[in-house]
Amino acid sequence: MKQATALAHPNIALVKYWGKRDTALNLPAVGSISITLDTLHTKTKVRFDETLDSDVFLLDGASNAGETRRVVDCLSLLREIAGVQTHAEVRSENSFPTGSGLASSASGFAALVVAADAALDLGLDQSRLSELARRGSGSAARSVLGGFVELHHGEWEDGADCIATSLLDAAEWPLAVTVGVISRKAKKVGSTAGMELTRETSSYYSAWVDGAEADLLAARVAIVERDFQKLADVSELSCLKMHALAMSSQPGLMYWHGATVEGIHRIRQLRRGGHAVFFTIDAGPQLKVISTPEAVATVTDALSDISGVQDVLLTGLGEGARVVD
Ligand code: DP6
Repeated sequence: MKQATALAHPNIALVKYWGKRDTALNLPAVGSISITLDTLHTKTKVRFDETLDSDVFLLDGASNAGETRRVVDCLSLLREIAGVQTHAEVRSENSFPTGSGLASSASGFAALVVAADAALDLGLDQSRLSELARRGSGSAARSVLGGFVELHHGEWEDGADCIATSLLDAAEWPLAVTVGVISRKAKKVGSTAGMELTRETSSYYSAWVDGAEADLLAARVAIVERDFQKLADVSELSCLKMHALAMSSQPGLMYWHGATVEGIHRIRQLRRGGHAVFFTIDAGPQLKVISTPEAVATVTDALSDISGVQDVLLTGLGEGARVVD
């Protein structure tokens, strides 16, 4: 019996991925830059078993029909490389609450490919693992690595150059992330469907794609120079552009709640007051605040004070996906 367990953390994009250039290979239309978190994780055990006549996927102990297809497809890519057809049981557990607005697909697919690679004894390198994780979910390519990570949009048709690379290790610029949980309800339109709707219907889409390189360059420079203000400016710009783009879809996608908007104002107020803080928001209402560790108490107070913020989660930056058993 071949089995392995891997652990991966979610990540938060500072320069956003929204839109695909190829849906079959899941190739993004734009590059993206993220930070991998610590504390929160997905732990996934993959067990290949000759006696199984189909793959089994359990998330937090329950079968998950919605996600099984994507898990099986991703697993099959690794089976193909290994030249085997054996089915597997995949048991995945999230340490963070479902619906907390932290992308579990990112840590989920990163843990899945790293565990399957180990179980099948493939020994694939990090680039290859990130390419395979990307096939499961674009943002998962970034969770294969720790710290500050760039997912390159790549040029090749087969997507082999659409991989994540490291910009800085977590310890090289240990920022903090505070998440204001505003709603735990499942969003009506997820990222995959939302970004396709945008690509098909928004007249702003080409402007978004054309502007991505400038944002990536500014973020790369800010990260390498540890320039917080510069990183704050480009991250908030990328976030607001992504949401403006989503809102310009037909029908318009509105992920924010009132508390999200209130949070944006509060965080900007803190920054004007000299605190090293900025916000970002993904395809949901939760507000994610990046700051220096010294500003965490102030950020937590500010978020807790907003009516509509149900919970506040704290995390730092963490490592990439790894085998733990
Ligand atoms: C808003 O990676 O979830 O979080 O590739 O279709 O699985 P698929 O999309 P996904 O999209 C993430 C969108 C985002 C921004 C980001 O993480 O870059």
